[in-house]
Amino acid sequence: MSTKFETQAIRNQTERSQFSEHSTPMYVTSSFVFNDAEDMRASFAEEKEKNLYSRFSNPNTTEFVDKIVAMEGAEAGYAFATGMAAIFSTFGALLNAGDHIVSCRSVFGSTHSLFTKYLPKWNIETSYFKVNEIDKIESLIQSNTKILYAESPTNPAVDILNLELLGKIAKKYNLLLVIDNCFATPYLQNPINFGSDLVIHSATKLIDGQGRVLGGVVVGKADLIREIYLFSRNTGPAMSPFNAWVLSKSLETLAVRVDKHCENALKVAEFLEKNQHVNSVKYPFLKSHPQYKIAKKQMKLGGNIVAFEIKEGLKAGKSFLNAIKMCSLSANLGDTRTIVTHPASTTHSKLSELDRLEVGITDGLVRVSVGLENVDDIIEDLNQALN
Ligand SMILES: Cc1ncc(COP(=O)(O)O)c(C=O)c1O
Repeated sequence: MSTKFETQAIRNQTERSQFSEHSTPMYVTSSFVFNDAEDMRASFAEEKEKNLYSRFSNPNTTEFVDKIVAMEGAEAGYAFATGMAAIFSTFGALLNAGDHIVSCRSVFGSTHSLFTKYLPKWNIETSYFKVNEIDKIESLIQSNTKILYAESPTNPAVDILNLELLGKIAKKYNLLLVIDNCFATPYLQNPINFGSDLVIHSATKLIDGQGRVLGGVVVGKADLIREIYLFSRNTGPAMSPFNAWVLSKSLETLAVRVDKHCENALKVAEFLEKNQHVNSVKYPFLKSHPQYKIAKKQMKLGGNIVAFEIKEGLKAGKSFLNAIKMCSLSANLGDTRTIVTHPASTTHSKLSELDRLEVGITDGLVRVSVGLENVDDIIEDLNQALN
């Protein structure tokens, strides 16, 4: 079969049932039946590839995972109820008490909470490097370091990490490189090509793309996925068949949707760069982005998230949100609907100013998840709110 991205996304499909359906149906069933005792024994012994119970596998989740595996160039994968379930299960399956993680400081808030609040319960500590301090990573590595972890682009400041460099460091020190590829999607960036062992997605974002369901997925090396699968089979964070069905359908249109998201986002970024109320704009495919060259090398397009620094900080950020008419004020991103957030007064308001600045969240930082509305309407709304 063709290995082209769009074709895989559509034609990589569960085997047809006796009803000869064209589009994969929903297999909403908690368990599966066996022909006889021997069939059941052999299936449980994994001598046969058969679905047993939907916490382990289900035709809909398998179809969704198979697509992401193909898109990321991975060997295997497993689907989760949420992106956070995927991240936690990866650590839970692969780390032992006393292991150590080296992570970029700019990671999603709940991932940061895992590092600071929960993993220390098992004596698993994390050392951080800043986005512009990749050269410090080697000095943070200890004899018990097992995982090198990062996101690129980062949430919410849209910084870019050099994946090839991370891949080289991970290889040199025999660490597992785990990349949260949520902002880029498998369409724009494939971290495995740069040496990543595992790639994680919150499917809740652009993979669903329509703000409907939660989901997560981890793909990568087969032996690591096997560990993650066994952990998850017992602990139960599996994706529901319904969500897998929705998300697999979403993947059929991922390429066209993301192309348009990126086209709109670049136009929004260019508009903001010229606006008198804006201090600076960060978008990976703007020449002014500090890691523009790296972004160009590792990403197909710049993604749908634009971050900008509004003049007069906190107060202006809040009044900008209040003046927005069409765009949504919402915690999600990667939706058809454009979403604006002001992290300093909302999602990151509990952090001290110093902690916020460490991860690039200034008082005036506004994050725009550019949607699929007509871009003129998006720009008009942002423009009137800035004015
Ligand atoms: C970069 C990143 N990783 C992980 C997550 C967590 O995903 P979920 O909300 O599906 O648990 C998010 C959610 O916003 C995210 O932005």
